[in-house]
Amino acid sequence: MMNTKKYYITTPLYYVNDKPHIGHAYTTLAADVLARHLRAKDIPVHFQTGTDEHGSNIEKIAREKGIAPKVWCDGISADFRNLWKTLNIKYDYFIRTTDAAHEAGVQAVFEQLIKSGDIYPGSYEGLYCSSCEAFYDEGELKEKNCPVHARPVERVKEETYFFRLSKYGDALLAHYEKHPDFLSPRYRSQELINFVKSGLRDISVSRTKVAWGVPVRSDPKHTVYVWFDALLNYATGAGYNPEHNSPDFPVLWPADVHLVGKEIFRFHGVIWPAMLMALGVELPRKVYAHGWWTINGDKMSKSRGNYIRAEDVVRDYGVDALRYFIFREVPFGQDGDFSMEAFHRRYNADLANDLGNLFSRLMNMAAKYLDHRLPEKPADSEIFRELTSWTPEIHRRIEALQFSEALEKIWQGVSTLNRLVDTKKPWALAKTDPAALKSFLHEMVWCLRLLAAWLDPFMPDTASRMHLQLGVGRTAGGVEPQKVPPLFPRKQEEKTGDPKNN
Ligand code: MSP
Repeated sequence: MMNTKKYYITTPLYYVNDKPHIGHAYTTLAADVLARHLRAKDIPVHFQTGTDEHGSNIEKIAREKGIAPKVWCDGISADFRNLWKTLNIKYDYFIRTTDAAHEAGVQAVFEQLIKSGDIYPGSYEGLYCSSCEAFYDEGELKEKNCPVHARPVERVKEETYFFRLSKYGDALLAHYEKHPDFLSPRYRSQELINFVKSGLRDISVSRTKVAWGVPVRSDPKHTVYVWFDALLNYATGAGYNPEHNSPDFPVLWPADVHLVGKEIFRFHGVIWPAMLMALGVELPRKVYAHGWWTINGDKMSKSRGNYIRAEDVVRDYGVDALRYFIFREVPFGQDGDFSMEAFHRRYNADLANDLGNLFSRLMNMAAKYLDHRLPEKPADSEIFRELTSWTPEIHRRIEALQFSEALEKIWQGVSTLNRLVDTKKPWALAKTDPAALKSFLHEMVWCLRLLAAWLDPFMPDTASRMHLQLGVGRTAGGVEPQKVPPLFPRKQEEKTGDPKNN
């Protein structure tokens, strides 16, 4: 049917102040894993990501570089899209806040809320961090600096439009209560609930001193505050415009999950739903906040040179090793530390040894002893039956965004198979009992097919190489297994030192 609701997944829109790093890749990869998993189950998915391009920070950077802000944005926005390609991320729609349809949607929303009285004019004095694009109270600062960037804030005093956030506190609390998974994971929700309970104040949503933004239609000396503009992407990208909705909107809306980092949970869990309430639009089903990566124990920071480029890791280890590591190493939701030592260790242990060797040992024997033909599903295999019964749990974990738990279970399968090969000693059976060997390899081939299907959302390249060699998806009656290079060639040298010099 044309208008079946799609499962709508979003990532935040990335600032284009600098090239992307592993922290940005994290949120987008998580969306990709979930999207791939659902698509494999034939659930229609819509996955949106993009770039957040307005605001004083971008304006300043472009000025320093001596180029027009849009030209700067075009370059960095393309870097993000290229990285998503390198990382094998399959999104459905890439939105830029400089897109005409988005800007028109933002303007229409602003006018509508002026009309309804939820946006009203006033004047504001506050402390502003241009890196966060956010105002802070004196009490929130750390040693007089921005608590996130540890950089000085500026005192801003100007005429502004306010959004009547204060009006929505009770409605928000009622919504959290009625939908206990709206703010996920639960251990992060209390902080937001307390914040709302402490009383919400109206927020400034326009600037007169920032030219690089969406002009307020009825009062163009104001531009729309960059967060108010950017949050609306989730709706405008899905076709929302209060003046003329697209027929796509009900197909996509409400969003099923907004994936965000913990530092922007408040914007997504408090301000965004209040904006939607003001517009009379249904709220998203879930906002999920993940944790932060540090690098070798320190905050990841481009300006301090402490960062890892995803491209470098991919060049040295392959894209799937990166996709595996970031979801295996740390439970999604919690903070974690990225070090090339830990990465290298997992690469050799989990990928080259456990998975890679298992696969090549079995496939070499299958090629030799199964007459180059891949057999029908085994009618009576205890191990295949047992592993098949794990599939619902693995799916449940992915759908609950418990990626590390899903991978742990998958690797439990890898170990189970490795142990079985060790005890069965198929290479010895070749001499003593060729029929038993064949039937064992027959079972193993099917177990490996299952493994490849489990791995697919996390490691799509690896899964398709496994499938290719297993002859999956080709003509009935069997095909010759393809010889492929090892899935994960063992790496000898341990990478150490400054990550960016690798
Ligand atoms: N532009 C805003 C979001 C607007 S959404 C309407 C923004 N952009 S960002 O580029 O700073 O961050 C985007 C995402 O990258 C966030 O989810 C953030 O958590 C993630 N990460 C950036 N650095 C990170 C780490 N070091 N670790 C994990 N994720 C981090 O905020």
